[in-house]
Amino acid sequence: MAAPVRLAFVGCGHCLKVSFGAVLPFVEGLEVVAAVDSSEAALAEALDQYGIPKGYRTLEECLDREQVDAALIAAPVFAHAELALACARRGVHVLLEKPMARTPDECDQIIAAHRQAGTVLMVAFMKRFNRSMLQVAQLLEEGAIGQVMAIRHNWDWGGNESATFAPQWRGQLRTWGGHWQDHGSHSVDLAHWWAGPVSSVMASFEISEPHWEVETEYNVICTHASGVRSTHQCTTFAHRENEERYLIFGETGTIELRHASGVWQYTTPYELYLHRYGRLRENHQPPFSANWLEEGRQFGQYKVELDHFVECVRQGRQPLTPGESGRAVVEVIAAGYLSAQEGREVRLPLEQSPDLERFFRALRPRLPPRYWQG
Ligand SMILES: NC(=O)c1ccc[n+]([C@@H]2O[C@H](COP(=O)([O-])OP(=O)(O)OC[C@H]3O[C@@H](n4cnc5c(N)ncnc54)[C@H](O)[C@@H]3O)[C@@H](O)[C@H]2O)c1
Repeated sequence: MAAPVRLAFVGCGHCLKVSFGAVLPFVEGLEVVAAVDSSEAALAEALDQYGIPKGYRTLEECLDREQVDAALIAAPVFAHAELALACARRGVHVLLEKPMARTPDECDQIIAAHRQAGTVLMVAFMKRFNRSMLQVAQLLEEGAIGQVMAIRHNWDWGGNESATFAPQWRGQLRTWGGHWQDHGSHSVDLAHWWAGPVSSVMASFEISEPHWEVETEYNVICTHASGVRSTHQCTTFAHRENEERYLIFGETGTIELRHASGVWQYTTPYELYLHRYGRLRENHQPPFSANWLEEGRQFGQYKVELDHFVECVRQGRQPLTPGESGRAVVEVIAAGYLSAQEGREVRLPLEQSPDLERFFRALRPRLPPRYWQG
């Protein structure tokens, strides 16, 4: 039997607790040998909760002391480039959380370093491994809605964002991006899957919460080279349950995907409908059982994603979501910020990375602080 892939889990916050932690024992051929986190408390919790044998405060120390084949990097986005480059220098394969990095330039450096090292570089677009999303891909391939004409995406937060996430690093200037960078990276990747590459972007952003330094709201229109337009929207003022929703409009039908994203475990597949003739609604939601442990073991998107990563490492194969797919998304994200900064439609490929720090410093919060203190 082949030796297991020895993995270091780097950044042990939300992503370990809510996304990967529960499914790690189900992944065949994977051995989590160490956790790395700059926070002592996060590290202690990771070791205690997930039975990870060793903990380190820095990646370098971990790689000096442990035999590590691969790293899952789930640290904040501003640390992605530095950590992914350190792995390439040590010949360590990487599964890198989305968004791949803050700018296309950072992505280029990561891609070049891993290419030179001959290591696998996969970007963690787990929705590509989601059961409902795979069902959508099959419907599209079968021609269930004919040619794709338009795509609409909404990611709305029920109360205000501060009630959902403390801002911490997500709200800070050094991320060079807020909700568009964070959630938009998923919806842009899906739009790439469903409609091909983006050729131009028009966008506007707002900060609706004064303690955030980057956008909390976005309205973005992407025109794809195929002629399809995809729109991507997020508000933190939904005043209802959180919602993640996609509509794919085709010549002969509309696909609707909905997830009540208050539940992040994703053991329940997305609601999936096919609408026709303005009145017929076919239910295509994959069947699922009430045994969520078994659901996670068989279909969990993070489990299937990790299975794929392990297989690519073992076979030296190019992953389904390589660095190039992460870069393509980051380029669209950056084009959105440039479009808002310059008040114009921005064509791709981008000729240069925008000055994101300047853009966010100029973006002013819409509501006064007293709104949030009350
Ligand atoms: N695909 C998904 O479903 C999903 C879900 C959540 C988060 N994410 C992604 O995972 C990443 C982390 O997000 P999160 O919500 O877990 O954040 P988080 O703040 O909850 O956790 C990040 C952890 O990284 C640690 N850290 C910071 N700098 C570090 C460094 N240089 N080395 C090692 N550890 C470091 C922090 O102490 C913290 O414990 C982001 O890229 C985010 O977009 C993806």
